[in-house]
Amino acid sequence: MERAENSMRNDPVRAAGVTITDLTFSYEEEREVLCGVTLRIEPGERFGIIGPSGAGKSTLLLHLNGILTPGRGTVEIGGLPVDRESIAEIRQKVGLVFQNPDDQLFNLTVEDDVAFGPLNLELSSEEVSACVEEALAEMNLLGFEELSSHHLSYGERKRVALATVLAMRPEVVAFDEPFSNLDPAMVEHLIDIIGSLPATVIIVSQSILPVIASCDRLAVLNRGRLVATGSTREIASDRALLRHCGLDFHFYCDVCHELNLLQGGTDV
Ligand SMILES: Nc1ncnc2c1ncn2[C@@H]1O[C@H](COP(=O)(O)OP(=O)(O)OP(=O)(O)O)[C@@H](O)[C@H]1O
Ligand SMILES: [Mg+2]
Repeated sequence: MERAENSMRNDPVRAAGVTITDLTFSYEEEREVLCGVTLRIEPGERFGIIGPSGAGKSTLLLHLNGILTPGRGTVEIGGLPVDRESIAEIRQKVGLVFQNPDDQLFNLTVEDDVAFGPLNLELSSEEVSACVEEALAEMNLLGFEELSSHHLSYGERKRVALATVLAMRPEVVAFDEPFSNLDPAMVEHLIDIIGSLPATVIIVSQSILPVIASCDRLAVLNRGRLVATGSTREIASDRALLRHCGLDFHFYCDVCHELNLLQGGTDV
């Protein structure tokens, strides 16, 4: 797929590190969903958090911009603690792409949805237009401006939701299941975009192959606890760990071997 020309890539890198210390959280009394999570993500890193359904991945992400408040522990973005006083500044720094695009889209048109964030920054109307056009181009949505987000397919809405966050040019982009419901060409394109964002990128997902293709380091979250952190290669090759957490994806490779796909297929 052709890559859109993008001036954002020429910006100096604006990226903040993320420090999570002893993060503990419960929605309901006596059931901890996050249990003492401690993690340091360096500025500009591409960091993946994988874990089975219900592990607490989305809950963890919702702490990064203060949607949820820790029961115990702290979260810092670029050294700034996430708390009530810092919330406005934190939400400019951290762009969160929700798991469900319908949680992100509430305006009448695609253009209004993507412009909503930049309009709330202190930008000129030319700068807002530039941010919107760039984000739409990134997500192959030029021509969708006047359409209603709610009349698009789920995968298209997912792309609009991604564009609403990219348009804010945040220092940290946190993606919740960004690859779900995207077609393979769009997954490949998104991996490409993730690789070139001038930001720290955090991805939580069960789509392990695209996460492996996108990230330098991985952590495994299981039942609210971080059970391993390491280089992508270390984690992805530890089948015992992956199997224990219900994450062993190696059967995909077996399918490719069986069909001889790794010898180079027939290209058109
Ligand atoms: N609003 C809520 N109220 C009560 N419990 C909740 C709420 N949201 C999530 N939970 C519970 O918290 C746990 C972790 O949920 P979370 O959505 O963070 O998991 P996840 O790892 O993102 O799962 P998935 O891969 O299915 O998206 C689950 O057991 C879930 O039932
Ligand atoms: Mg989730």
